[in-house]
Amino acid sequence: MSMQSVASALPAFSGPPKRAALAHIPGDEGWPVIGRTLSVLADPKGEVERMAAKYGLVYRTRVLGETSISVLGPEANELVLFDQTKLFSSTWGWETVLGRLFPRGLMLLDFDEHRLHRRALSVAFKSGPMKSYLGELDAGISRRIAQWRAQPGQILFYPAMKQLTLDLAATSFLGARLGPEVDDITRAFVDMVAAAVTPVRTPWPGTQMARGVKGRQRIVAYFSQQIPLRREKGGEDLFSQLCRATHEDGALLSTQDIVDHMSFLMMAAHDTLTSSLTSFIGALAANPDWQTRLRDEVNALNLRADEPTSFDKLEAMPLSEMAFKEAMRMKPPVPSIPRRATRDFSFKGYAIPAGTMTSTNPLFTHHMPEVWPEPDRFDPLRFTDEEQRARHRFAWVPFGGGAHMCLGLHFAYMQAKCFARHFLQNLSVSLEPGYTPQWQMWPIPKPKDGLRVTLKAV
Ligand code: HEM
Repeated sequence: MSMQSVASALPAFSGPPKRAALAHIPGDEGWPVIGRTLSVLADPKGEVERMAAKYGLVYRTRVLGETSISVLGPEANELVLFDQTKLFSSTWGWETVLGRLFPRGLMLLDFDEHRLHRRALSVAFKSGPMKSYLGELDAGISRRIAQWRAQPGQILFYPAMKQLTLDLAATSFLGARLGPEVDDITRAFVDMVAAAVTPVRTPWPGTQMARGVKGRQRIVAYFSQQIPLRREKGGEDLFSQLCRATHEDGALLSTQDIVDHMSFLMMAAHDTLTSSLTSFIGALAANPDWQTRLRDEVNALNLRADEPTSFDKLEAMPLSEMAFKEAMRMKPPVPSIPRRATRDFSFKGYAIPAGTMTSTNPLFTHHMPEVWPEPDRFDPLRFTDEEQRARHRFAWVPFGGGAHMCLGLHFAYMQAKCFARHFLQNLSVSLEPGYTPQWQMWPIPKPKDGLRVTLKAV
């Protein structure tokens, strides 16, 4: 199928249904104009839990100026995410949040066009390139942990992790030979990512959105200028991989496609990794027994401090992987996933019209006590093979599922386990007695005060 015919096959969106068309679905649309936006912003988890307790697992709400429905629990996740009949559009689900700054990122494409682009991008996630990213990640993490070890004491973990993730992306995504423009590019990128989640969606002068739009212009200019150079003599970094990637007919991705995919990939990786690694280390600080178990696992790898981490060694860290999964259960980096119905459908007896914004909620599902007993307890043993087999396959969805399932999932595990190896081999982490960090859970979970932890050399 040519790209032309695929693009024209994109689902048209002729606007959301009239509010009255959703009136039969139980729910509460809150105040005029602002709807329930403020309740969602103030306490996203509590809001969904209260609405679900009152109205059930399908309810009507009004957020950011639109009446929408939430569908909750593993079955709803399966319906919306697995979606083998192309009932739900991701393009028109994410458009409001990400459309301006990350247009035509992979998650913003639908159906046949999405499948073609996903296939082209997947070369950059095969084992050869992944090994090369691991080399860069390993070296960068090892250097940073050595710095932390040399200056033990209290640090704010979240900003430190954010900086590390950004520095790692500069080398593994853009290439170690990035010149003096590195600061300029990373600043532009940080502005874009911050703008993606800012409540003011119009780029008025002085707003984060205006900085984001300017950041995008800078990034677009940089990528466009680099593409021919990378095609000629690029390295093994992700950007160079995409510059050489082709569609099924052998045609290289267009400059515009590479720019859009790179911007989206960097955004998709950045806040999610920062959030999940912060909750992972926060959980180990709060659960010293688990910290010891994982350190024992790392020490059993028998790696000298300066020895690189290989794929095989990462394979030998099952407990660390389970603990990372449990951290993402408790604080999923993407707490809700929006879609828009392309046709009328019904779920749990409710008729829902085409065009309805339909959101699933990993954060809610991951805390359903009937699926996850004692949901607030950190227990990596929930992720033994046996326990996982016994659960609904859409009960744990931090990476989504179906056609749009996170393409960087293995990259994320690789970075998390590589980080766990160097961190635990060198440092112990603890919280001050009586200190319970508070988390803001939406749009991406982060500790409100940055997470104060104490690091000590081991
Ligand atoms: C712990 C870290 C991460 C989490 C929790 C996460 C989560 C997710 C989720 C939930 C989705 C699907 C959203 C939807 O269905 O609407 C997604 C999609 C995606 N993620 Fe990740 N992500 C992570 C890291 C990464 C990394 C490191 C990369 C790249 C290196 C990446 C690249 C992508 C891409 C390209 C998509 C779009 C896939 C598609 O639409 O086909 N992610 N991610």
